[in-house]
Formats: sequence, C-alpha cells, structure tokens
Amino acid sequence: MINRHTSTNDTKLLLFRQTYDFIVTRIERRELKAHDKLPSIRLLAQELQVHRLTVFRAYQLLKQNHIVYVKEKSGYYVCPPDFPEHVISDYTERSPITSSGHLRNSLSEIQQVPVIYQFSQSLIDPNLLPNLYISEYVKKVFDIYPKLLGTYSSAQGDDELREFLCQYMKLHHSIQLTASDLLITTGGQQAIDLISRVYIRPMDFILVERPTYSAALDIFRQQGARFISVDIYPEGYDLEKVEMLMKQYRPRIFYMNPTFHNPTGYTIPTDQRKQLVELAERYRCLLIEDDAIHEMYFDQPPPQPIFSYDTDGWVVYLRSFSKFVAPGLRICAVIGRPSVIKPLITAKSLADNGTPLVNQKIFLHYFESERIKQHLEKLRIALQIRKEIVEQELSTTGWSWVSPQGGFNLWLKLPEDLPVEELLQESVRHSVSFVPGMICDPLREMRSWIRLSYSFVNEGQLREGVRLLADIARRF
Ligand SMILES: Cc1ncc(COP(=O)(O)O)c(C=O)c1O
Repeated sequence: MINRHTSTNDTKLLLFRQTYDFIVTRIERRELKAHDKLPSIRLLAQELQVHRLTVFRAYQLLKQNHIVYVKEKSGYYVCPPDFPEHVISDYTERSPITSSGHLRNSLSEIQQVPVIYQFSQSLIDPNLLPNLYISEYVKKVFDIYPKLLGTYSSAQGDDELREFLCQYMKLHHSIQLTASDLLITTGGQQAIDLISRVYIRPMDFILVERPTYSAALDIFRQQGARFISVDIYPEGYDLEKVEMLMKQYRPRIFYMNPTFHNPTGYTIPTDQRKQLVELAERYRCLLIEDDAIHEMYFDQPPPQPIFSYDTDGWVVYLRSFSKFVAPGLRICAVIGRPSVIKPLITAKSLADNGTPLVNQKIFLHYFESERIKQHLEKLRIALQIRKEIVEQELSTTGWSWVSPQGGFNLWLKLPEDLPVEELLQESVRHSVSFVPGMICDPLREMRSWIRLSYSFVNEGQLREGVRLLADIARRF
C-alpha cells in the first residue's frame, strides 16, 4: 500500500521543504525585510547542514512563488509585499511578534468545526464512561482530603499517585521504578510539549514516523525541529532504514507511537521493540515512546512497552490515562531516568506549577478501584463493535485499510483520484468531519488517506455518518 522505495528522496524532499519554510519564517518575523539579500547558497547550506542543491531548489521555489527575486550576479533578494494573494494572507495576518507560521494545531482546527458526525475526534463517546460512578468518587475524594482545593500539587506530581503508578508498572509490565522516575503531566499532549521545549533546539533533526500524530508534528515544528521520517507498516518499521537515518543524521530524538499507533492503528512487534532500544543506545538517540491508549485493545493485550527493554535510560515513556479513564482529568505519567526527568520537572514548573491536585486524587482513587476493570472491559467491547460497524458500512466503497487490533481510528486509503481536501469541505457541509491524512504526514503528502475515528459518536450516528460520507465520496 505504501511505497517503500522513496526513502532517500523523502528525506531530501523534507529538507528542501524545511529550507523553504526557514526562509519564509525569517521573512514573516521581519528578520529579512523587503529587498534584503538572502544568505548565499553556500552559507545557508553550511548553516542548515544540508546540500547546496537543496538550498538552490528552495530558492528557486521562493522565486517562482514571488517571495524572492534575483539580481544578476548578485544573489536572491526579498520581494516587497505585493506577492500573490495566498502568500500575502499567509504573511500579513500575523503580527511581527506572534508571527509564527509554525504555531498552529491543524488537528484542533479541524476538530473545532461543529458537526453532527464527528469522526475527527479520537476521543471516547462520553456516554461510554461511568459518569455517575465517577461523580461518587469526586465526593469520596473530598471526604478523604477536605482541604484538597486549598493547595497545589508539587510540580512533579502527587506522591501518592506516583507511588501507585510505580506499583502499577511493576504489576503489569514487571518494570521496577521509584516515584522519582515519574512526572505527572496534564495529558500526553503536555508531555510532548515539555519534551520538545527541553530536548529540541531549532534546526535539530528529529526522527518521526510517517504518518504520525499530527499535533506532535505541530509541537515539534513550533520548536524549529527538522524532520526525518520512517514509514510505519502493519508489521513495523524498516529497521535498516531507522539505523541508516540515525547514523546519517544523528537525530536527538525518535518520537514514536508504537502501540495502536495514531493514525494507522498499527503495533510494533516485540522483536523490533528490543532492537530499537539497541539502536537508540548505539546512536545516542532518545526514544520518546508515546503510549496513549495501551489498554484499548480488542482481543489481545499489546506487547510490553519498548521502555520495558531499556536498561540504560534511552527511552522516555509517556503513558497517558487521559483518553479512556476519565478524559476530563487529563492525567499522564512521563517515566524515565532521573537525569531525563529532572529538566522536565523544571519545564513543568515553568508551564503550570503542577497538574491540579484534585484531578490527580480523583484519578488515583478511581483508577485503583475494582470498578475500573469492568469499565475497561465494557469499553473494549463497545469500541470493537463500533469499529466493525464502520468496516461493514465501508465494505462496498473500494477503500482499503488494515483492521486495527485496538484503538479509536481507521486509517483509510481512498482512490488516488478522489480529492480528499474537497471531500472534507463537502463533508463538513453535510455535517461530517474526518482528518485528512496530509496533516499526519511530515512530508505533507499522503493526499489519498484519511483518519476516521469511530470512538466518539454512538452506533446509530456512526452508521448514518459513514453512509453519508461514502455517498458524498461517490459523487466525486
Ligand atoms: C499518540 C497520541 N499522543 C498524545 C495524545 C494526547 O493525548 P492526551 O493529552 O489526551 O493524553 C494523543 C491524543 O489523541 C495521541 O493520539
């Protein structure tokens, strides 16, 4: 399904795009003004550590898009702001200070569009949560800690919760931890953000999966990272390629989502998990293992986390409980060796001084209750039924997918000639939304893929909405 032979070309294309974006960003920020001269091709290639041809191509495209002009035998200069309209709106809508083409969250933009058939939210239908039962716990927690709202949590997170999670990791994954190895964050999203603030500097190479969780890409872009990417397949990664990329680019981190991957639903097999730790050690690349829905399997629990094979501290493990326990509480544990966790605690204290204690305590008491097991079992069945409904409804469309063994999403390949962006516009007009694959792709391609989340709307709406979507697509 995915072309496996484009690896070197993909990397070149990515560097070319990032070189192009680098100049555009400098113009947006007014660091380069009208008629300023661009750095010479040789200098910029040196500064960005890319080939001169890459810079040359980026400059040619800037010229073609009327962002820069050429003076014979002198070099490239910034055009005054009378470019074509699409370029102007991109430039002038932003003030000089906030001017950051890279500050955006494409996923959230799509999710904020109000629709009835909401297939862009990879969240659980609130009706599937034991809401009354959780509210009993809220009351219970206030009985146990009457002054709960009168105090902050420590920035690192509530001691009792961290102790409990150590026991949990030991019981479920045979991982020995102490509370100092853990930091509690407000969801996995905050964990990714803190990691990127601490570990990524502008122009750092970071390795990501293709496709990947689009909000993570937006966070890394905001930090000025440069992407190199490795395709993810139902059977895992091409580890030779991972090694080649680590050797050649020495990425600071490899951000990965190896269990019920978002958006594809694929899971990396155990043998690759062990080898990835070896590669991380060999090339001194921190693996960021984002495990947001570990418990959301259908028939079989997933393999043990990559983190469980790590003995030397090359994995930072993000275990979010936000999605399926009580999403409103937004609890995630970041786990790693103390030298990695310590700067993250400082970043957390700068960001918000600690996740609200009330959320942590409610989560703790609910998550250690017997009831949680029943909740998770029911949830797994409900999600599997929803997945099967979508698969049934899509069976006559000719679209293809690999049926996931857990999670909230179907990653669908549509016919090449079906314009996904127009399909999305037309669908939204009919109150249906989904995530276009392009935003999950570090190369911003994958134009005939979409992510359809089956977890958020009820079964009736799911049938209606998927039928509607398939009908709309047929009309193209
Ligand atoms: C892979 C992945 N990581 C992180 C997150 C953020 O989750 P949360 O902040 O709710 O823990 C999500 C949410 O969809 C996700 O899919």
